[in-house]
Amino acid sequence: MERIPEPELMDEAEQAIAYARADFEAPNSAFVDRYTDLVGVTEGHVLDVGCGPGDIPLRLARHFAGLHVDGLDGAEAMLALARDALAREPAIGDRVRFIRDDVAAASVPAVAYDAVVSNSLLHHLHEPMMLWRLVKHAARPGAGVLVMDLYRPDSRERAAEIVATYSADEPEVLRRDFFNSLLAAFTPGEVREQLASASLHHLRVETVSDRHLLVHGRA
Ligand SMILES: C[S@@+](CC[C@H](N)C(=O)[O-])C[C@H]1O[C@@H](n2cnc3c(N)ncnc32)[C@H](O)[C@@H]1O
Repeated sequence: MERIPEPELMDEAEQAIAYARADFEAPNSAFVDRYTDLVGVTEGHVLDVGCGPGDIPLRLARHFAGLHVDGLDGAEAMLALARDALAREPAIGDRVRFIRDDVAAASVPAVAYDAVVSNSLLHHLHEPMMLWRLVKHAARPGAGVLVMDLYRPDSRERAAEIVATYSADEPEVLRRDFFNSLLAAFTPGEVREQLASASLHHLRVETVSDRHLLVHGRA
């Protein structure tokens, strides 16, 4: 099935609120577990690219008292929710920052991060190389990299089955976004080609569920 790109930014208030209210407890805590096992950077600076409402930066900062986490997203609707969530957690407030910027033009400092992570962003990008360029720009040599995303199923029918299996009880706006995201996602082979073009072929690409792939390794 050909890829069908979707809009990059999630900047509609209704869409951002529905996303922030959805139950991502299981996948987001699994993301932190994978970070612990595969990246293992417990002190220093982490960049989360496409952080959305900020759940993963907040989880990382809560979990690792030595981490400073920058969450970057281009959508103000998402970042407003992220800043509200951060304001409710004064204990970690001085270690988390949210930055509004586009992946393609991000003005984060070069070679400054001990780890670069991203969850569910890659499939949004019309030009996926922008993510890999930002990883190379922001990560210091040897920094941990952990990128998780959906991968594209073989057919629209299979995408509809996945949505029915995992999101039957979610609001229509979320089921629509999930379906469109599956159609917009890259296959593991396409991601390997992107990494090779970015000279990041040493990063590993693995499928870790019937809909998720994981990219991990050292910059
Ligand atoms: C599906 S959400 C994932 C949010 C978060 N990482 C999570 O796991 O819950 C994708 C996020 O990427 C952001 N995004 C998409 N394209 C972007 C771009 N070109 N620059 C910056 N942010 C972008 C969207 O605004 C959205 O908040």
